[in-house]
Parts: sequence; structure tokens; C-alpha cells
Amino acid sequence: MTVLGIETSCDECAAAVVKDGEIILSNVIATQIPYHAKWNGVVPELASRKHVEWIYAVTKEALDKALLNVSDIDAVAVTSQPGLFGSLLVGLSFAKAFVWSQNIPYIAVDHMLAHLYAPRLITENNSEIPEYPFLGLLVSGGHTIICRADNFDDIKVLGTTIDDAAGEAFDKIAKYYNFGYPGGAVIDKMARNGNSEAFRFPMPSLHKGNHRYDVSYSGIKNAVINQLDTFKKVQDFTNEDIAASFQKTAVEILLRALLNAVEDTGITTIVAGGGVAANSYLRSRLAAQSNLRCIFPPLELCGDNAAMIAGIGYHYLKRGESSPLDLAASSRVSGFKKKYP
Ligand code: KG4
Ligand code: ZN
Repeated sequence: MTVLGIETSCDECAAAVVKDGEIILSNVIATQIPYHAKWNGVVPELASRKHVEWIYAVTKEALDKALLNVSDIDAVAVTSQPGLFGSLLVGLSFAKAFVWSQNIPYIAVDHMLAHLYAPRLITENNSEIPEYPFLGLLVSGGHTIICRADNFDDIKVLGTTIDDAAGEAFDKIAKYYNFGYPGGAVIDKMARNGNSEAFRFPMPSLHKGNHRYDVSYSGIKNAVINQLDTFKKVQDFTNEDIAASFQKTAVEILLRALLNAVEDTGITTIVAGGGVAANSYLRSRLAAQSNLRCIFPPLELCGDNAAMIAGIGYHYLKRGESSPLDLAASSRVSGFKKKYP
């Protein structure tokens, strides 16, 4: 089955063609980063307007690169949640018009589940395809989720952030200090030349009871922005030192919750996904855990892309599922929340 994937949940306008849920025939990602950079963050209204301008050309390029015509597409998969509402609507409306004109089915999929699916796609850089069950570490600009995955759509959320997402902390700190945009990638790069011991930022005290797998980033974000002097361990410091010290603690926070989940579930295969999964320090720290098998999607599938949407969409479609044309977009995740006892 040849599925066209469409992804417009944030600032990447993306289309891809994937065969049978795993073979990527094309994967086109048009990033809006240069348009949002001068505001040091995504401007939602601008994002949706750019999607309107680009979605046709991006989809055409995906078809051309796959050497296919519109009539070769069997079905469409599109992100309907979570994300920026206006941006989601562009992709969803485009997908609906596409399938209506071709009289083929479509499936609306959850962006976060799709991130978890990304390492199952076959690429030159993807050496390991994870088997279920595994623990998922989903870390993006809007979400931080530690979950157990028993199938592509069978997820139990073990822990989440109780306030800010991990990527959000990277982005807000980079914005405050004018380090550049997008914040995560910039801090990752700066940190390579910094002293991670220059500051000792506080860890949240969230490791017991119901919060054993939860994380929090608002405390460290505030500490880095408002209380540098309080946590300083050296007299003179550079911006690179701030970046390295923040990144170290930000990754420690994730690892502590994740390792608690490993200990309690006995599951030792970890699949990371979402933009923050591109972080080189997180990758190296996880790779150093010799008792764990850590699978990261290749970098081109870590951030937002439509191949992961087409890939996961195939499995719903194969089961005979499809979405109605009156389906609404949603800016929030649903059925993907932690249930406290
Ligand atoms: O998954 P994604 O592309 O979009 C969302 O669904 O949010 O994730 C974007 C997030 C941003 O917060 C960005 O700063 C962060 O991923 N990010 C990184 C890195 N590259 C992107 N964070 C840390 N280190 C990186 N190398
Ligand atoms: Zn994402």
C-alpha cells in the first residue's frame, strides 16, 4: 500500500510517500525556521500562512521524488493532533481535499505516536528496528512523555512533565540569552565548548510515589534565567558554560525518570523520539548505559517529518480503519495522558 503522509503541526511543512509502512520513497521537509528566527520562536499565524503557501508544492515534490502520480497513491495519512491549531488545519484540509478528489481513504494520526513510530522506518542510517514492548522517551518542543509501548497504537503513559516540556526549556533559555534559534540545536552545539560544571542547577524533587517517572523543567528554566549567581561554581563563565551546565542537568532529569521506569518495568529497550532526541549529549549518555538497548531514529526522522505519519498511518489503514471527512483537528493530545491512581 502506497501512503502519502502530510505533516503541518508546527513549523515544518512536510509530505512523504511510504510503501507498506516502512519503505520511504520520498521525504520532503520544508522548514520555516528562517521565517520564525527573527522572533526567536514559532509565530503561529505566520506558520499557518506558510503552510497554506507551501503545502501544494511540498506534496508535488514528494510525489515527483517518489516518481509517482497522484493516481498511484492508495491512501493519505495526516497529523490531526496535537499541534498549532491553524497549522494542523492546513494539512488536514489539504489531505481531505486530496482524498475526496481521488476517492481514496485517509487516516488522521497522532503526532506523538508517530514520533515513536519513526525508528521503525527503514533508511540507510537506521540499523536497528525496535521490537515491542519497549519504553518510549518522547521529547519534543511541546511534550515530554515516558511510556511503555506494546504496539504502534498501544501506549501506556508512565510519566510526563508536570509543567514545561524539555524542548521548551531549551527554547526559552536560548531565547532569553539570545543564543539563536531554534534553541535546542543551538544549545547542543554551544555546550560542546562549555564547562558543564560551571553551574550546578537544581534537580526537581520528583522521584517518589506517583511522580516516580515524571519530570519538571520550570524550576531549572527559572534557575538558568533568573538565578545564575545562586548556582554558579566558577568565578568567570561563558555562554557556552551556561549551555553545557543547563544541558547536563536537563538530560539528568530525563535519565532519572527513565531509569526508574527501566528498573520498575524490567524493559531495557528504549526508543527515543521527538526533536530533543537529536541532542548529542542525551544520545551519548544513553549510549553509555551498557544494560540498555537505546534506539534513536536517524537524525532526519527525529524532528517533524511526514514519513513517520505515512508509516504509522499504514497500520491503521491495513486494519481497515479510516477517518471521516468531518473530523476536526485538535491542538491537544487525547488518550495520551498519564492516569494517576
Ligand atoms: O519534534 P519537534 O521537531 O517538534 C515538536 O513536535 O515540538 O521538536 C522540536 C523541539 C524544539 O524544542 C527544539 O529546540 C528541540 O526539539 N531540539 C533539540 C535539538 N534539536 C531540536 N533539543 C535539544 N538538542 C537538540 N539537538
Ligand atoms: Zn514533533
